[in-house]
Amino acid sequence: MSTYLITGAAGFVGSALARTLVESGERVRGIDNFVTGNRENLDGLLGRMDFRQADLRDPDATALACEGIDCIFHQAALPSVPRSVLAPEPSHRSNVDGTFNLLEAARAAGVQRIIYAASSSAYGNQPGLPRTESMRPQPVSPYAVQKLTGEYYMSSYWQIYGLETISLRYFNIFGPHQAPNSPYSGVVAKFIRQMLTGVRPTIFGDGRQARDFTYIDNAVSANLLACHAPAEQVAGRVFNIACGAAHNLEDVYRALAHLTGFEGPPLYGPPRNGDVVNSLADITAAKAAFGYQPTVGFEDGLKRTVQWHREEVALAAAGDTASRR
Ligand SMILES: NC(=O)c1ccc[n+]([C@@H]2O[C@H](COP(=O)([O-])OP(=O)(O)OC[C@H]3O[C@@H](n4cnc5c(N)ncnc54)[C@H](O)[C@@H]3O)[C@@H](O)[C@H]2O)c1
Repeated sequence: MSTYLITGAAGFVGSALARTLVESGERVRGIDNFVTGNRENLDGLLGRMDFRQADLRDPDATALACEGIDCIFHQAALPSVPRSVLAPEPSHRSNVDGTFNLLEAARAAGVQRIIYAASSSAYGNQPGLPRTESMRPQPVSPYAVQKLTGEYYMSSYWQIYGLETISLRYFNIFGPHQAPNSPYSGVVAKFIRQMLTGVRPTIFGDGRQARDFTYIDNAVSANLLACHAPAEQVAGRVFNIACGAAHNLEDVYRALAHLTGFEGPPLYGPPRNGDVVNSLADITAAKAAFGYQPTVGFEDGLKRTVQWHREEVALAAAGDTASRR
């Protein structure tokens, strides 16, 4: 039986992976420093996995976390383009130094495979949609550079040390447990929570920017498929993980207003420095290499996410701890 390490296990994607693996009876270790993650995401999991509060910037703690591990899902990062624009140094430390520490620790511990949460921000604003993995990356923001650096390190550690590394470039993942209340929150989580609590959301830019929004279950299944794929098909490679369909922010707003019952138009703010304007993925490489297929579409994903937020808002209104999320 394999033992899995999830970095960023208290975060949005990391906790979804942890839940899926723990519920399938797998042996799971998780680490997180709670910089953006939260303990409520681990509700019901803590007694069933080996969770350690640890920071990837600490090489000793990272080395301990890798002992006895077969496969790592590396989700930990200080996410967000605008956060990295405002203060590039902290995200560089977690996203580049932390990833490097993890690779070194994994190499020393004899870990077989690392699946890395890469980012579609690597493509930047170059012309040409859909994005294919053969396009030359043109990162714009510090965050995009940091995430792309992680990809290059992944590829290097496969070529040089034979550590089986796979980079999954996520395109705008959304779903339950994504933090809604930070200025850096993903747009879907933020809009839903604002609409459900009577706050008018702000669209930065003209609203025509379109993204390949991808429900969380699709990202989880991509990780699990990549984990079990033969090394000759995946090691050292980069794959887009998305749905292969783009929706602009005006459409997202309208769909969410309909689902939440929110009335009224959005506010508009200036475009955010460093943001990628349009994204749409070609997902044929992931399909061919490990059978990835999105199973939950955009509309269904939005419905499930709104339902989760409704329950959270109701719990918060009843005085539950969810109000802190
Ligand atoms: N959500 C998306 O749309 C998206 C898109 C592209 C890429 N990604 C990548 O996917 C991964 C997961 O993103 P998410 O949306 O779940 O973000 P998240 O903020 O919810 O999760 C990241 C987790 O990493 C933890 N963390 C950060 N720095 C750490 C450190 N130095 N040591 C230990 N733990 C640390 C945080 O506390 C948090 O729990 C990230 O690597 C992110 O860059 C996400």
